[in-house]
Amino acid sequence: MPKTSEILVFDSGLGGLTVLREIVKARPDAGYTYVADDAFFPYGQHNADILATRVVPLLGELISTHAPDIVVIACNTASTLVMTQLREAYQVPFVGTVPAIKPACASSKSKRVSVLGTRGTVKREYTKRLIADFAHDCEVTLVGAENLASLAEAALRGEDVSDDAIAQEIAPCFVSGDVRTDTVVLACTHYPLLLDRIARLAPWPVDWIDPAPAIARRVENLLGAHMSENIPLPAKFIFTSGRTPSLALAKALQPFFGAHALEHA
Ligand code: DGL
Repeated sequence: MPKTSEILVFDSGLGGLTVLREIVKARPDAGYTYVADDAFFPYGQHNADILATRVVPLLGELISTHAPDIVVIACNTASTLVMTQLREAYQVPFVGTVPAIKPACASSKSKRVSVLGTRGTVKREYTKRLIADFAHDCEVTLVGAENLASLAEAALRGEDVSDDAIAQEIAPCFVSGDVRTDTVVLACTHYPLLLDRIARLAPWPVDWIDPAPAIARRVENLLGAHMSENIPLPAKFIFTSGRTPSLALAKALQPFFGAHALEHA
């Protein structure tokens, strides 16, 4: 029987759960460790050097502790900065999450696309290169949201988050004129947590591009076709701060893990 593949999914906080959810659907037989670097959240507000200095050694520690077969960096703010350094430093295969500018520009009809990410992600050279390489005839508006990731976490924890606060963060994505924005890239893994509300509060309907299903396909390809027949193993959930989720949060987290019972480390 093929051995169980161990997948480590990493984010600054709870946003990476939107990526994990798709991977779990594709590979329910794998073993999962989810690490939220809440001690350093939000990543979007740190400068690039400080963030790289935090993330690269932290991944080294996580790899030696958990010995994963694949590491998924389910965070655009980190992936647009440290993927090369991670691949140079460690042997394990990495899958990153970067703004889905290529498919968004390919499918946009009005050729006006917005990229909604953290302040860090929209500043990155990597993101600018994606635009230079793939935007072609599209006009791309970069929108760095200051608080949207924190609002998404608050909503998942069951706290009140006002419509106004969300509407204010997404407003700059909507550009009108001769033609108007018809496609918005969700370039932060936290934002799909709020997708229903974001879509309802949008001034007009657009296509929202979430790369999570594509990331899950990439992981599937790397793992190969053979599924182990193990019943879903308990999944580990780790906050780098060492705190354990409240009962209410643990309940909110469980659906992202499918049939894997959650264990808090
Ligand atoms: N989830 C992260 C991303 O995809 C970042 C949120 C943050 O920590 O600022 O960019």
